[in-house]
Amino acid sequence: MSESKAQLLESVRKYHQENARSGFVPGVTPVLSSGAAFDEEDRVALVEAALEMRIAAGVSSRRFERKFARELGLRKAHLTNSGSSANLLALSALTSPQLEDMRLRPGDEVITVAAGFPTTVNPIVQNGLVPVFVDVELGTYNTTPERIAEAIGPRTKAIMLAHALGNPFAVEDVAKLAEDNGLFLIEDNCDAVGSTYRGRNTGTFGDLATVSFYPAHHIAMGEGGCVLTDNLALARIVESMRDWGRDCWCEPGEDDKCFKRFDHQLGTLPHGYDHKYIFSHVGYNLKATDLQAALGLAQLAKLEAFGAARRRNWQRLRDGLADVPGLLLPTATPESDPSWFGFVLTVLPDAPFTRKGLVAFLESRRIGTRRFFGGNLTRHPAYLDREHRVVGGLANSDVITEQTFWVGVYPGLTAEMIDYVVASIREYAAAA
Ligand SMILES: Cc1ncc(COP(=O)(O)O)c(C=O)c1O
Repeated sequence: MSESKAQLLESVRKYHQENARSGFVPGVTPVLSSGAAFDEEDRVALVEAALEMRIAAGVSSRRFERKFARELGLRKAHLTNSGSSANLLALSALTSPQLEDMRLRPGDEVITVAAGFPTTVNPIVQNGLVPVFVDVELGTYNTTPERIAEAIGPRTKAIMLAHALGNPFAVEDVAKLAEDNGLFLIEDNCDAVGSTYRGRNTGTFGDLATVSFYPAHHIAMGEGGCVLTDNLALARIVESMRDWGRDCWCEPGEDDKCFKRFDHQLGTLPHGYDHKYIFSHVGYNLKATDLQAALGLAQLAKLEAFGAARRRNWQRLRDGLADVPGLLLPTATPESDPSWFGFVLTVLPDAPFTRKGLVAFLESRRIGTRRFFGGNLTRHPAYLDREHRVVGGLANSDVITEQTFWVGVYPGLTAEMIDYVVASIREYAAAA
């Protein structure tokens, strides 16, 4: 490393230390619902990538993909510019003509839940497919294999579900249901990296899994996401669709990896048309950059510690609130070990206080709260006129829309902050 670079990076470390957060002042210091936890290694990694002007996808992206796939126990990972892009890419991949009879065609149905994040559902609509909404349970905030089984119809081709705020759905049974019925399963693992179900990582049960690296998530790259799979044929389709739809799999700047660059004949193109410019899909450009990947690599080293902090914070909230009347506390899905994204609370109908009042009180104390994303998505303007089916009613999704919110567990929160959240909720409930 050159002397000037070493000096610069040393200054970055110093800058980080000088700007490290000072002590917690209750009611003054914000207790965020989510955020990234960055240390000086993260800052150095990002600045180093910037110094080297690694502004497009390159070596760090490839390295991150390999390491992250290995970390989760899958063969392939493809970085994207967001978790939403990862969802779009994963579902779009299932429409590839290369899947022949298995491909999803306009009008086919995809089973999902109404209570969740919009971009788990949007790719279904964006691809001309029909979302079939089922309800979730209160407490785990996941749907059940029984509800999914009831929703399967003649045009059902896939299931696309998120692990709710880090809490795994019964993914092994859902994967079995999908297999028995010839359906694809996409796990939206954006909020659950590091969660396990029956001892196995979420994201490894379905045909495809997606991840988000937005700062609220388990590791952060700024914006960023990833599509993972064990299926090499699907991985090729994902890569093609991410990278403009091209048939060639050379990295940017790389030529002739297949040793047949000028020896292909595809479509009705003349023989020998440059493979770099042959397109087998109507694709996108959803790539991330090395700046993001360099930060991601530094964050990845801390994934386990982040998961431990999330679990610790969640448990501290759970223990501290165990006897508060009027609140439904969250529960982990049986046989799961969630790496929690947030701590979900539902205000019960007989509570002597309202969700609105409690949330306003917490916010007045600078304690950040969030809704369970869209609540019942079918009630939003965007979806009112979209073709969809609802199976079994959405009563619990409606309860979530009215009565549910969550507070943070991310690694940036200290025990002192968590205790302040507990004390504040207890104080409000006791005064009601
Ligand atoms: C379950 C779920 N899926 C997808 C996303 C989208 O991720 P991104 O914000 O990176 O687009 C989010 C965002 O929080 C999410 O919670």
